[in-house]
Amino acid sequence: MEMIEIRGGNRLHGEVAVSGAKNAALPLLFATLLASGQSRLDNVPRLRDCDTVEKLLGIFGARVERSGNTFLVDTRDVASIEAPYDLVRTMRASVLALGPLTARFGRARVSLPGGCAIGARPIDLHLKGLEAMGAEITLDQGYVETRAERLVGARVYLDLPTVTGTENLMMAAALARGETLLENAAREPEIVDLAEALNKMGALVEGAGSDTIRIQGADDLAPYEHATMADRIEAGTFLVAGAITGGEVLVRGAMPQHLEAMLAKLRDSGARLEELEDGIRVHGPDRPLPASIVTSPHPGFPTDMQAQFMALMCLADGSCQISEQVFENRFMHVCELQRMGADIQIAGHTATVRGVERLKGAPVMATDLRASASLVLAGLAAEGTTAVSRIYHLDRGYEHIEEKLAGLGADIRRVRARG
Ligand code: UD1
Repeated sequence: MEMIEIRGGNRLHGEVAVSGAKNAALPLLFATLLASGQSRLDNVPRLRDCDTVEKLLGIFGARVERSGNTFLVDTRDVASIEAPYDLVRTMRASVLALGPLTARFGRARVSLPGGCAIGARPIDLHLKGLEAMGAEITLDQGYVETRAERLVGARVYLDLPTVTGTENLMMAAALARGETLLENAAREPEIVDLAEALNKMGALVEGAGSDTIRIQGADDLAPYEHATMADRIEAGTFLVAGAITGGEVLVRGAMPQHLEAMLAKLRDSGARLEELEDGIRVHGPDRPLPASIVTSPHPGFPTDMQAQFMALMCLADGSCQISEQVFENRFMHVCELQRMGADIQIAGHTATVRGVERLKGAPVMATDLRASASLVLAGLAAEGTTAVSRIYHLDRGYEHIEEKLAGLGADIRRVRARG
């Protein structure tokens, strides 16, 4: 078992480059299934979730070649339409295979992901949309099976603006007959990146980034060449790393227009931000000011940054409230932050954080990706040594986080746990 060990207290300085966005790369890789031929996706981060998609595409019969951060996916020989439980349970986003497989092959069999650490996370809205487009849906042995001669465009209102649900339905609609209208669609920047790729493939997608997306399906789609957008959550995490250590960090590739809510809250916390042509520079405050947040779908404050921002607020000069409105159970980092001396109380979906003057290093572990990132951030600012275990969660979403932070002057290393 590996751990990340951090000796806190160093102010971070220098530049760090943002990798490609995991949450954009995953749907983009599944979109290759919509066409027959070789697609090329650049700027794919080297992460465990991308390895999982590679395995899944291989199981379907695609040939995947990787070189550095480029994926070449040849889908000419795709013959299987089944995504097995063993892989789906390690990555919920495997459900993104449903839309493209159903649209291109008229059939898909994808294991239901089951529960996960941050809540029930159903996929009912994905299924409701596919059904509206003419798919017949059955459940067999824990697998969702879809069947459709050819999907037909439909008008679909999403009760919640689900991100992967919107992506699944956009991909399905790209090969459906006629027009699909997605209402109350998710507006995340990753949706816009997917729309660009679908348009390159020959679909006509309009309105991505707004809550109404109109898609004209095509009879056939062509393979694409595309580069994955920069990871706004990784960028936000490095901005907090600069802020929490009172350092000065240039986050190259950070896009201000993707991070507005985050940047507003960082400013409220006393950080000084410079928006440059190729990134954002943060100057951390000596001690952060309290800033309350409420998570909500984009363009609101991202739930994927809630845990990291909470780490910063643990050291604020005053108290604030952090309200989680997207997922029902996303406070698992709280107990671990408390072990480092944080003063946090939870009532329902809201955590009240009373800032303390200092955190103290401790052995901690996390049960999800962003929670793990918050513990690393807390460790950077804490006195003494913090050892974060179960870092396979971190490796699902951050490319070489310890190397990037070490490059900024953090005392951090990956070590093999004893015993
Ligand atoms: C995506 C992101 C994840 C992020 C989340 C919210 C990817 C691969 N993952 O996850 O990092 O935390 O968006 O920004 O892009 N819901 C339903 N029924 C459904 C689908 C969703 O009730 O059919 C609910 C969920 O339980 C949750 C809310 O809708 O409460 C939002 O979830 P959703 O946007 O679907 O999250 P993901 O797409 O799984």
